[in-house]
Amino acid sequence: QRSLLGLKDLSKEEIISILDRAAYWEAQPDKVKPVLQGKFVANMFFENSTRTRFSFEVAEKRLGAEVLNFSAAVSSVQKGESIYDTVRTLESMGIDAGVIRLKPIGVLADLATKIKVPLINAGDGNNEHPTQALLDIYTMRKHFGELKGLTVAIVGDILHSRVARSNLWALQKLGVQVRFCAPPNMVAADLAAEYISMEEALKADVIMMLRVQLERHENGMIKSAEDYREHYGLTVERAQRLAPHAIIMHPAPINRNVEIDDELVEHPQSRIFPQMENGVPVRMAVIERALV
Ligand code: CP
Repeated sequence: QRSLLGLKDLSKEEIISILDRAAYWEAQPDKVKPVLQGKFVANMFFENSTRTRFSFEVAEKRLGAEVLNFSAAVSSVQKGESIYDTVRTLESMGIDAGVIRLKPIGVLADLATKIKVPLINAGDGNNEHPTQALLDIYTMRKHFGELKGLTVAIVGDILHSRVARSNLWALQKLGVQVRFCAPPNMVAADLAAEYISMEEALKADVIMMLRVQLERHENGMIKSAEDYREHYGLTVERAQRLAPHAIIMHPAPINRNVEIDDELVEHPQSRIFPQMENGVPVRMAVIERALV
């Protein structure tokens, strides 16, 4: 029984083993294979989500688990109950694993020392979003076959991005060169990666556009959506300079016509919806790893 709190401390072998198991689940002809029959999994989202929450739910149901969906907005959190007391309450009721998304940084690491059931990080603050990075890497591996030697440019709000952090730490272990491109006020000084211009970013094998996270911004972090698009957006004109083999990625949700032009979201080189599709087998592998 294993938690998944992040990719920073996960070995290359463990990452590859999750990707391989996801490929196994993707290849299964049956939609449901009840290997987790009798297991109860709680999805505990203290921050909003569409993709992560529902793909975890689909993954759990495809494995035959009993699923409990907790939403902070309609819970006793609204009466002031703490995150710890909420998770401890669900643990007392007999859940076998918890999938958890949180806003405050550091709370998940602390919870994991106190809660006995495996916890899976579904995004904690700007720290890590391990299953997003795993599905991103799975998507890259599906397209390119081999990961070693690839170049990945991650463009946008690096400072607030848990997706950038998890991808950086995992991709570097897999021999991928990760470089960032960001406005000066969205640079993360704590991360060991080179910063490049937008022109350089267009030369990468993978260009991963990040959402401008307005909900995490202080006032005035971007001048305007138009200004951001002009300097850091993947516009139709810029996309014409990508290599023919290159792919476009974005974790979504997307601010269309801000970080990426509307016409590019379902462009032949875009893997944005395949990323969402790949999230299901990847999360099946992660849930199975936690419980079997
Ligand atoms: N990519 C991602 O985490 O999306 P949600 O916030 O909708 O889960």
